[in-house]
Amino acid sequence: MPSSVETAPPRPAPASLAGVTAAELEAADRAARHWSFTPGTDPTADPQVAMVARLMLETFNPYKPAVIDWPVLDEAARARLIALPIWDIAVQTEGRARLRILSFARTIQDKLLREAFELMAFEEGRHKEVLSHLVQAYGIQLEPEPLYVEPKDPEWGFLVTGFSECIDSFFAFGLFALARRSGFFPPELVETFEPVIQEEGRHILFFVNWLAWYKRRQPLWRRPWLFLKILGVWSYLIRERIGLAKDVSAGEKENANFTVEGASAVGEDIDTAALMALCLSENDRRLSGYDPRLRPPSTVPFLVRLALPILRWQARRSR
Ligand SMILES: [Fe+2]
Ligand SMILES: [Fe+2]
Repeated sequence: MPSSVETAPPRPAPASLAGVTAAELEAADRAARHWSFTPGTDPTADPQVAMVARLMLETFNPYKPAVIDWPVLDEAARARLIALPIWDIAVQTEGRARLRILSFARTIQDKLLREAFELMAFEEGRHKEVLSHLVQAYGIQLEPEPLYVEPKDPEWGFLVTGFSECIDSFFAFGLFALARRSGFFPPELVETFEPVIQEEGRHILFFVNWLAWYKRRQPLWRRPWLFLKILGVWSYLIRERIGLAKDVSAGEKENANFTVEGASAVGEDIDTAALMALCLSENDRRLSGYDPRLRPPSTVPFLVRLALPILRWQARRSR
């Protein structure tokens, strides 16, 4: 089936900031990062699903990252940006994520929850748009995009996107902090991407809490099947990341070792242990502003915490 799910995006973003005050911009940014659920506003909805859906809907930022003034870069900074090995993967990941989320959204009966999924898909489409403006603004050449294909199994497609985001966002949090502190790119450019990274943080919080609720509401007979499916998704993602599953999904790109290579690409010589510790602290910081009743993503931080003593020991040995 051809790619497009042409459901209208639920929240058209403003095309310009004309008439928007600095105070309004700041309030929208704050609302996207600090949120707590007030029960009782959705009397017909399951309170758990209402909390998950409202997290997404009430932290939506209509302004950023939709409207961006691309800063002028000097030649050296532009060359560094062009050399980052991420642009094709990033654009294609956003395009694929949008389609998978919309595809799954159509299977959802609960109106509030479906709206939250549609908004998440809208944000992925917005990320893709931001990236395509960036590549145009700085003259980055992209490969032709593949035809995005709707997943045959929307649940599988959404689980792949959700767990992928849990892995990629965790490492992106650390790399982004590194890019900010290294000064390798002008601060205006780093700040331009700040809301995109925070949106991915909201997405993974939404995903893990939706999944906890979704597992619980499955009939007993289906729970083992869902468990096996999730194991299958993890196995697929691990194989993809170590480069063994290049042909599993058309156009998908493995990004093995990207985090460690990415650290040098954003201009800092840092050992893996220090980078992982930074990812952990950034993960905690970014998700700390949301309702404590929401469970934070735990698998990737748990595995990294487990590996940290070994990584530190390795780092000490190689000094
Ligand atoms: Fe995204
Ligand atoms: Fe996302």
